[in-house]
Amino acid sequence: MNLLVVGGGGREHAIIKKLRENPRVETIYALPGNGGIAQDAVCVPEIGVKNIEKIVDFAKSRSIDFAVVAPDDPLALGCVDRLHAAGIPCFGPDAKAARIESSKVFAKTLMKQHGIPTAQYRVFDDPAAALAYLRGGTSFPVVVKADGLALGKGVLIPQNLQEAEAAVKTIMEDRAFGDSGREIVIEEFLTGPEVSVLAFTDGTAIRPMVSSMDHKRAGDNDTGLNTGGMGTVAPNPYYTPEVAQICMETIFLPTLSAMRAEGCPFKGCLYFGLMLTPEGPKVIEYNCRFGDPETQVVLPLLKTDLLTVMQAVENETLGALDVEWTGGTAACVILASGGYPEHYEKGKAIALPDTLPENVTLYHAGDKLEDGRLVTSGGRVLGVTAAAPTLKEALTDAYTAAAAVEFEGKYLRRDIGRRALDALED
Ligand code: AMP
Ligand code: GLY
Repeated sequence: MNLLVVGGGGREHAIIKKLRENPRVETIYALPGNGGIAQDAVCVPEIGVKNIEKIVDFAKSRSIDFAVVAPDDPLALGCVDRLHAAGIPCFGPDAKAARIESSKVFAKTLMKQHGIPTAQYRVFDDPAAALAYLRGGTSFPVVVKADGLALGKGVLIPQNLQEAEAAVKTIMEDRAFGDSGREIVIEEFLTGPEVSVLAFTDGTAIRPMVSSMDHKRAGDNDTGLNTGGMGTVAPNPYYTPEVAQICMETIFLPTLSAMRAEGCPFKGCLYFGLMLTPEGPKVIEYNCRFGDPETQVVLPLLKTDLLTVMQAVENETLGALDVEWTGGTAACVILASGGYPEHYEKGKAIALPDTLPENVTLYHAGDKLEDGRLVTSGGRVLGVTAAAPTLKEALTDAYTAAAAVEFEGKYLRRDIGRRALDALED
């Protein structure tokens, strides 16, 4: 079989490596892929993820048997709709279902109308009305979110009225996140441990994956700016079987039936960003795709063949499939370019260790080949994942391997998994 994967980060590398385990898979094309992915797939750097026309033409020209669309942008732009129209089976939601991520207003309205627990909120398309609401006795901190996709950056948490006024101005008037700031959601600030749960779903049946914990801030002890994610561990110790049961009944199944009721059944990987509040689990956000870097700790723990699961989602036969997990743990430490998520330099030569322990995998996120040499090309450069029976071992092995990778300006958080280990010891 010939497969196509749209995307070019660490998440796509993890998907590609897993798909490779299936002996029926011959060629995998990655659009655009990256320097490291080139070891596992045929990369096409000229075709970017938003170039839907070229992606579909390419898929037709290479007789692609199955396609996986991983990033949010092409999903929101209808890449899956277009591939389906061209007769190509694929994994991922259509544009209508992808609104669960691409419009926070859509997601919040869905939850409100279908009784799915989430933060209380109000929607505004007029900055004056938003400011009047904030001045009318809102409690702080409060959460201000741009409606649309904003590379994970469109969420501000003002601590007082002054900061809240500035947040509204930044998003709605200065349009710091572009048109995604035409409407905003102002919502209640929730507290509690955060859990990421990715789930395979064919619209009706659901198979939640192993839970995980992201580390979004740039600095140790959750300080500094928000990033795309500086590291992950799986499973998340706060996500006990009891919590999982509550989430299934109050959040996962109701979300699937809500999407069916809205006429846009969700097929693909649905990402539940949850907060375990004192009143129970609530949805912080939905993503219409695999998380990055959650995928880099979740897929290594998948025992069932990934292509088989993805085909069952596409064929709507997931209900008949057992999806099995190793029962172990995994940790991923992100190696970033110094300065990320703000200004950083690119083009630094990357030196990889000659050998790696069998339980360690390098997922390439932001690098490219230049005259046959691997050089940095992005903020997040590599994810170093180790799988092991215990989280402590996985973290030790991931950090040991992370120390053996070198490039100028290499930056990593030193405390990935610390909270998870503390929770396990409690
Ligand atoms: P999002 O892009 O929606 O995942 O938001 C980014 C981060 O902002 C989340 O991971 C949370 O840590 C935080 N956040 C978002 N919404 C809330 C909320 N209602 N209460 C507290 N923190 C929030
Ligand atoms: N790691 C968070 C995300 O993928 O959105």
